[in-house]
Amino acid sequence: MGEFVNLFEVGPRDGLQNEKEIIPTSHKIELIERLVSSGLQKIEATSFVNPKWIPQLADAVDVLTQIKRKDGVVYSALVPNLRGLERALGVGMKEIAVFMSSSESHNKSNINKSIDETFPVLREVAQAARAEGIKVRGYVSTAFGCPFEGDVPLSSVVRVTEQLLDMGAYEVSIGDTIGVGNPKQVKENFRSLIDLFGSGRLAGHFHDTRGTGLANVYAALEAGIRTFDSSIGGLGGCPYAPGASGNISTEDIVYMLHAMGMETGVDLDGLVQTGVFMESVLGRTLPSRVLQAMKKTGKEGECVNG
Ligand code: HMG
Ligand code: MG
Repeated sequence: MGEFVNLFEVGPRDGLQNEKEIIPTSHKIELIERLVSSGLQKIEATSFVNPKWIPQLADAVDVLTQIKRKDGVVYSALVPNLRGLERALGVGMKEIAVFMSSSESHNKSNINKSIDETFPVLREVAQAARAEGIKVRGYVSTAFGCPFEGDVPLSSVVRVTEQLLDMGAYEVSIGDTIGVGNPKQVKENFRSLIDLFGSGRLAGHFHDTRGTGLANVYAALEAGIRTFDSSIGGLGGCPYAPGASGNISTEDIVYMLHAMGMETGVDLDGLVQTGVFMESVLGRTLPSRVLQAMKKTGKEGECVNG
């Protein structure tokens, strides 16, 4: 598998949205700048959602106004409606992400609408964004299982993906929001989705809640997926999905891909230093296994305990 894999860093958004203690804006800015210095080219920096729903990201405008943006790096943010788009336009976003679920109950819990009520809202956002020259990415949540409904039929994932692509999303990220997916299911479902939509328009978004995150990445790689979302330190979770925990960690996926001879353009040492920085900001150890191994030895592939 000697190929390039694109990573979309979602730590500053998915990673932080569930943190209870409000993190100072200056630390969020430093986080984003460190991630960019480590070579990540795509960063989901924050959300323009209702700040009453996600208080941690209420400083979205400040973050995006104050970061030093680097040429060639894509800075994106979640946008749920036209009010969110207005705020995103105000800070000169060039890319946004719209999001919804493939299960009714999670969609209602997360964005307060049924699936059918959501389509026209997101279509309006996508059309208005594209009219301003802004690229739109899409997310399908609960694609491998829902915290309220359990199994989610692939037909629901296909329906939502189709709608998001049809409204102009250049890529749709298929999300295992609560980390219940398994590699067999991931490979089979991605094969079906790739047959319908093509691998270049799909990405994988895995949470490692039950320890299947990297195995699911490998299964999706085998199916043909070459874009993955990940979060520094393995931070993350959805406040509107009970039991959701961190995304797959950027350090872990980069380590695994490099070890398999694949390229990411990312410097693992820089990531580890960024993970250490986030541990100091949050005052706790983060879930990334590679972060824990490498912060002690400082070296890729070496084990401190022999
Ligand atoms: P609502 O309360 O139904 O909205 O929320 P509303 O349209 O009735 O408006 C209520 C008030 O909110 C109004 O203000 C609006 O102006 C304001 P008022 O008139 O009462 O003063 N408002 C806003 N203010 C700022 N920015 C906005 C905005 N929108 C409304 N954008 C809404 C509906 C969708 C906005 C809300 O449910 C929401 O913000 N939900 C977001 C929840 C969220 O961010 N969840 C986590 C992200 S999704 C995720 O993590 C999954 C993912 O990682 C993939 C995966 O893991 O599968 C992407
Ligand atoms: Mg997520």
